[in-house]
Parts: sequence; C-alpha cells; structure tokens
Amino acid sequence: MLVTGNDILIPARAGKYAVGAFNTNNMEITQAIIHTAERLRSPVMVQMSEGAIKYGGQDLANIVLDLAERASVPVALHLDHGSSYESALKAIKMGFTSVMIDASHHPFEENVHETRRVVEAAHAMGISVEAELGRLGGIEEHVVVDEKDAFLTDPEEAVRFVEQTGTDYLAIAIGTSHGAYKGKGRPFIDLARIQRISELVSIPLVAHGSSGVPAELVQRFRDAGGEIGDAVGIADEDLQQAAQYGIAKVNVDTDLRLAMTTGVREVLKKTPKEFDPRKIFGPARELMGQIVEHKLRVLGSVGQAPGC
Ligand code: 13P
Repeated sequence: MLVTGNDILIPARAGKYAVGAFNTNNMEITQAIIHTAERLRSPVMVQMSEGAIKYGGQDLANIVLDLAERASVPVALHLDHGSSYESALKAIKMGFTSVMIDASHHPFEENVHETRRVVEAAHAMGISVEAELGRLGGIEEHVVVDEKDAFLTDPEEAVRFVEQTGTDYLAIAIGTSHGAYKGKGRPFIDLARIQRISELVSIPLVAHGSSGVPAELVQRFRDAGGEIGDAVGIADEDLQQAAQYGIAKVNVDTDLRLAMTTGVREVLKKTPKEFDPRKIFGPARELMGQIVEHKLRVLGSVGQAPGC
C-alpha cells in the first residue's frame, strides 16, 4: 500500500528499527526493492533524486506508485535531496508521499526558512518532509573533536531546527558520505552523537550515505571487468547500533548501483552473444534483491509490516 513517510518512520523510531530507503532509476531496481520488501514483510521507502526525475520523470514515478499501491506492505515514494521549494512541490504533484528539502549548505536561518516553507506546503497536502542539518562527508576517527563539530550535526542546534521548522524527520551528519569512496578504511560513525541527538529530538532521524559496499560485490564487479578503487562502506554493526539509537531511515543507493552493473557485466562477460534484455537485466534484478534483503535484515525491519 502507498503510504506517507511518517506512516513508515514513526513506528520505526518507536520500535527501534530502521527502514531502508533505496534509490531507484528504473523498473528492475524498483521491483527488486518492493518485491523483496513484500517477501520479507518489511515496510520500505523508494526514493528518486532530482537526477532520477530528470531521467525517468513521471513514467518512472508511475512505475513506483503502481507497485507501491499494489504492494502488500507499506511503501512510500520519497524525493531524495530536493534542492528547492519548487522541486519539492513538483514531486508532490507527481504523486510523491514524502519529500526532502536539502538546504543544509545554507546558513542555519536560511535552512530553517527554506525548510519551513516546504513543511507548510507539504503538510497542507498531507505529505511528510525530511530536512537536513549538518554537512555530510566522511571523517576519520582521528579528527579532533572541534573539527568534527564543524561538520557534524550539533545536538542543541538540532533541537532548535526541529522546533522552528516542524520537519517530520531529520537527516543528520554523523560521519557518513555518499558514493562508493567513503575515505580510507571503514568510515567513522559518530554513534554517541546519534544517541545525544535522539535524547533531545523525538522525531525519526535519517542516515544518508549508508551503503555497505560489500567486499564480495566489489570483487565480483572487478572480476566481471569493472574498474573500481578501494571502496569501503558502513559496517552492518554500526547501522544496527544507529537504529537502536534513533536512526529510522537509512539511505542506500551505491550498493544497488554496484549490484545492478555487476549483474549486467557478469552476463555480458559470460555470454557475449546474449542480446535478450531480459536475460541481461533479470540476473541483475536478482542480485539487487539479495542486497536489499541483506540490508532489511541488518536494519531490523523484516516482519515489521502491519498484520505480521
Ligand atoms: P550511498 O551512496 O552510500 O548509497 O548513499 C545514498 C544516499 O544517501 C542517498 O541520499
């Protein structure tokens, strides 16, 4: 069933589990996300970035909406990193049930102002909103506290931000970063900061940049002819702990990109004569389903769909 972000994330925060929010760019990715969630009786969020909207537009949104409406578990369609009021409103008109306004690169007051505008408009239409406070980007464990504070979300500021904007959920900077390259070695995740913020802020918290970039997947990508440097993502244990501390939405894009292209590469390498798209994208869809399953199990959302 198609639901709002709040419908999915408020129970998640209360139940101390997190929901996977996976980015989609086509039908196969969408099917892998929603069908896996149904099989595992898990709520799930499917998100499209502005780039995905540019690429797939209403056609892609309709694929997600149709699968969501027919799904036996709660599914929300979310705008990832909306850059403006106009962008958020456009997504709502397209049928999105959750939107992010990311004005985190602006000074605090301007971030509040932009977010507030989106919250007022979205709430009038029954749509939930995600905002962001802090600067995303990998940081190393040895970075001194003062420098961390410059990047990461300040707990007291988070309280004021939530009060002044009325945002439904809040993306916080805790050391994660987008993409496959998250610094040298495992990224440092500031779990104590998550704990402190969730003591002060009761709305669901969001972690961006949460791909695990599994070593086996990276190896398969390489074996199938792909080129990728030393890619290391977030440890499963860190995500589990983060969910205990109040992270209710976990954003994953890179892992599915890697799975999709690994699946395609493997078929093309093994059977260079193959040109039936179903035989090329089918195995990729299967591999993405395995990645989604792993993530849902790690986050603890399996079996959390109503009626279980
Ligand atoms: P990854 O690049 O780690 O998958 O993060 C995606 C994300 O945060 C989208 O908003």
